[in-house]
Amino acid sequence: MEFSIKSGSPDKQRVGCVVVGVFENGKLSASAESLDKAAGGGIAELCKRGDMDGKAGSVLLLQKLHGVSADRVLLVGLGKEREISEKSYRDACKAAAKSLVGSQSSEAVVFLIETGPKKSSLAWRVRQWVLALEECAYRFDDFKHKNPPTPPKLNQVVLIVDPKNEHKEVEIALQQAMAIAEGQSLTRTLGNLPGNICTPTYLAEQAQKMAETFELKCQILEEADMAELGMGSLLSVAKGSAQPPKLIALSYRGGAKKSKPVVLVGKGITFDSGGISLKPGADMDEMKFDMCGAASVLGTMQAVARMALPINLTVIVPTCENMPSGRASKPGDIVTSMSGQTIEILNTDAEGRLILCDALTYAERFDPEVVIDVATLTGACIVALGAVACGLFSNNDALAKSLLDAGTEAHDRAWHMPLWDDYQELLKSNFADMANIGGRYAGSITAACFLARFTEKYTWAHLDIAGVSHKSGGEKGATGRPVPLLTHYLINKAGLLA
Ligand code: BES
Ligand code: MN
Ligand code: ZN
Repeated sequence: MEFSIKSGSPDKQRVGCVVVGVFENGKLSASAESLDKAAGGGIAELCKRGDMDGKAGSVLLLQKLHGVSADRVLLVGLGKEREISEKSYRDACKAAAKSLVGSQSSEAVVFLIETGPKKSSLAWRVRQWVLALEECAYRFDDFKHKNPPTPPKLNQVVLIVDPKNEHKEVEIALQQAMAIAEGQSLTRTLGNLPGNICTPTYLAEQAQKMAETFELKCQILEEADMAELGMGSLLSVAKGSAQPPKLIALSYRGGAKKSKPVVLVGKGITFDSGGISLKPGADMDEMKFDMCGAASVLGTMQAVARMALPINLTVIVPTCENMPSGRASKPGDIVTSMSGQTIEILNTDAEGRLILCDALTYAERFDPEVVIDVATLTGACIVALGAVACGLFSNNDALAKSLLDAGTEAHDRAWHMPLWDDYQELLKSNFADMANIGGRYAGSITAACFLARFTEKYTWAHLDIAGVSHKSGGEKGATGRPVPLLTHYLINKAGLLA
């Protein structure tokens, strides 16, 4: 979809659809009013009759209004004029996006940037439109050969801004939003791909492709390289599978030569059967989403490279399958991690932390300013926070605050969870330096505590995205979260949030 910023008046647009706002109680926005004049009062009448009540998130698509150049007019409810909140504005964007993407128009002109929540900037409003439209237009149907769904027609969207307003900031916001949407859509697609296609080798190939497109540095460690580095923990997960493991490291250098990189580490389990501690069969297909951490750091890299942000960024993806077999790790096995610490594997289904700990030790060699890992790590995090917020753990409160703020700005929220030493006791093992599980309670915290033992040398945060990375049921599919949170954090870091 192509977006542009222009100025203009609603009745003069020779396009598929003009989008204007109306408020509760039938009041028209300025642009709706000028359309209404051109149409001889037809719109005001519809609102008065109650065909359009103006409630936030309600929409009404009108065809061929006399006196209006556009083929269609989409009325979008914004709620009470004085009380437009961020939520009601977002609801309006989503409903409008759904109606536009479902319509037959290929071009739309949106007159809703000048009206919005009191405290919001034009830049913020532009982001809401771009992200809502791209999210709605996203399709994953390459595998539907019989009756493939028709793709959306909408391919041109013009966002109208008053000519007296500063266009530069709005233009920057537009470029950023398009980059974020592109990264998020890559993340969704990698997540949605089935485990027989999206293997560790496939992820490594995608990283190499991205490196070619954006001139990034790409290193792929093979099993033998990992063995040489002593990554006994990562390899203990991979060894039950016929698919070879990979460790991907992608580096983007847009910042000063001497400035230390942000390092993002993403869990890349391309299928999590549980291993010998086999998972129950119901919904096991959803464990193809267990590489959504990897997908989100790759999507973030793509967005950052597209924006050409003036920062240095490295993305590390440890990736393998977790499978049961005669060669698989067994409960009770003891392995030695790259850090030298030994781990008793009491449950082979707690494999995410086993691959992450070696990747986190490997991250040290990039001399990071901060390291943030992103992982579909625990079912316990879903129990705690559901699908609304991801779990945030950190050894640094300033970093935690930056991530929380970025999540709020992007409406891709995280919630700060404790990492107190008291919880560390739960990881005690009778036979090794630690166990890989902490027992029944505080499951997302003990998982984070495990990782904390490998991140003492740098400033670190962990995002447990098990609840937010994908949806189940009728809407089954990857969400592309937390790409918005991560990109906002990085744009802020570069001092460039419009
Ligand atoms: N990938 C799962 C966590 C998960 C569960 C993600 C459901 C998304 C939806 C992880 O590897 C896992 O199996 N964790 C175990 C840990 C337990 C054995 C300590 C869990 O949460 O049950
Ligand atoms: Mn598991
Ligand atoms: Zn897992």
